[in-house]
Amino acid sequence: MKKLFIKTYGCQMNVYDSARMADLLAPLGYAPGSGPEDADMVILNTCHIREKAAEKVYSELGRLKQLKLARAAQGQSMLIAVAGCVAQAEGEEILARQPAVDVVVGPQSYHRLPQMLAEITRGAGHVLETEFPAEEKFDSLPDEGAAPGPAAFLTVQEGCDKFCTFCVVPYTRGAEFSRPVMQIVDEARRLAGSGVRELTLLGQNVNAYCGEGPDGATWSLARLLCRLAEIEGIARLRFTTSHPRDMREDLIAAFGDLPQLMPYLHLPLQSGSDRVLNAMNRKHTAAEYLDLIARIRARRADLALSSDFIVGFPGEEDCDFEATLAVVREVNYAQAYSFKYSPRPGTPASAAHTQVPEEIKKSRLERLQSLLSEQQDAFNVSCRGRSFPVLFEKPGKKPQQGVGRSPYLQPVHVDGAASLIGQIRSVRISDVLPNSLRGELLDAPVAEVAH
Ligand code: 5AD
Ligand code: SF4
Repeated sequence: MKKLFIKTYGCQMNVYDSARMADLLAPLGYAPGSGPEDADMVILNTCHIREKAAEKVYSELGRLKQLKLARAAQGQSMLIAVAGCVAQAEGEEILARQPAVDVVVGPQSYHRLPQMLAEITRGAGHVLETEFPAEEKFDSLPDEGAAPGPAAFLTVQEGCDKFCTFCVVPYTRGAEFSRPVMQIVDEARRLAGSGVRELTLLGQNVNAYCGEGPDGATWSLARLLCRLAEIEGIARLRFTTSHPRDMREDLIAAFGDLPQLMPYLHLPLQSGSDRVLNAMNRKHTAAEYLDLIARIRARRADLALSSDFIVGFPGEEDCDFEATLAVVREVNYAQAYSFKYSPRPGTPASAAHTQVPEEIKKSRLERLQSLLSEQQDAFNVSCRGRSFPVLFEKPGKKPQQGVGRSPYLQPVHVDGAASLIGQIRSVRISDVLPNSLRGELLDAPVAEVAH
C-alpha cells in the first residue's frame, strides 16, 4: 500500500471533497497515512476565502519540497498535489512558483485525479486541471469508502451565483449546480446503511438547491429534506450554508413540520447596516433578515441561530458597525463566526478606495466577538438543567466517556456513554464548560426532537 496524506483547509465542503479524493485514490493503492513525512502522495486541499491563503499554501509547499527531496535521497518518491480553491484561483502560477508540485486540480475537476496520476506515470511531468464540469464530477465519483461515523456530510449543491462583492466563491467554485435528487438519496441510503444517523447537507448556497427529482420536476431543499427523512436510520438532518434570500416558505415550514430537521440554522448576515449590505450586494435589508428569523422562530421556538459577520468592509463607518451590534443584540445568536474584511484579488470590493484601516477592523472585531461570545455563553448556560436527545458520535478522552451532539450542535460529554456510539439518548445537562456541555444519561426512552 502507498501512503496518502491530505491536509484540508477551510470549509466543510473541502472536508467532504478530501474524503472523496481519498475514495478515488484507494483503488490505486493509496491508504490514509498519518503525516506528510512518509507519504507517497500529499494533497493540500486549499481554501481561498480569507487573508494570505495563497501565501500560506506557498510556504507549506516549500516545506513539502524539502520532504520530497529527503525522500528522493532515500530512493523514494513523493507526489505533491494542490487541490481546492487556491488551486482554482492560482492555476499555472503554482507550477511556475513551485516546480516540486506535480498536480494542480480545481474543486470541480478532482474526479480526474486517477487519470492525472496516470499521465504523470507516463512521464507527463506536471498536470493541471481547473475546468468547471460539476455535473460530470458527481457522476464519476466512486461510492464512499470508509464509514464516516454516526454523523456525515453530504454535498448536494455547489457553486454560487450571488456575487457578493467581497467573495471569491463564485470565481473559484463556479456557477450554482444542484445534484439530482436520486443521486443524493442513493448516497444517503448507503451512508445510513453504514451506520450514519445524522446527515448535514452541504452547499455554498444550500438553500438555493433546485435539483431534478425522480418525477422530472425541480425539487426544493425542503422537498429533498422530506425525502431524506424517509430513509431508515436517518434520524437527524441539518444543512449549511444558507443565504437569507433563498429561505423559501416550504423550508421555513419544515422547521415546524419535519421532526428530523434539527432546530439549528446557520444564516449569515455579514452586516447589520443596510448601506453596507447593499454595497456587499447581499440583496436584503437588516429588517428583512429580522423578519425572516421571526417567521422561522414562529415555526420552531427553540431555534438556535448561527451567523457569519464581516467587519471593516470598505466604507463601513462607526454607525454601520453599531447597526451590526444592534441586530446581533436583537437576534441573540447561539454561536457565530466573525472576520475582518480581507480584500480578495479580483473581487469588486477589493478595488474600493474606502478600505478601512487595520486598527479599526481589529477593534471592531474585538467588540463584536466579545458580544457574540457573551451570547454563546448565555445560550450554553441556559441549557443547564435541560434534557435533550444527544447523538453519540465518538468516545471521549476519559474512560467510558462518550461525546455526542445536542440538537443545537453543542458537543456533550457524558460518563458511561462510550458504548452508545451511534445511538440517540436523552441526556440531562449538568455542567457548562467553555466549549462544550457535560450531562448525565436519563433512562427515559428517547423522544428525538420534542417540539
Ligand atoms: N473577507 C472576510 N470574510 C470573508 N468571508 C467571505 N469572504 C470574505 C472576505 N473577503 C466570510 C463571510 C462568509 C464566510 C464563509 O467567510 O462571512 O460567509
Ligand atoms: Fe460568497 Fe455571497 Fe456566494 Fe456566500 S452567497 S458564497 S458569501 S458570493
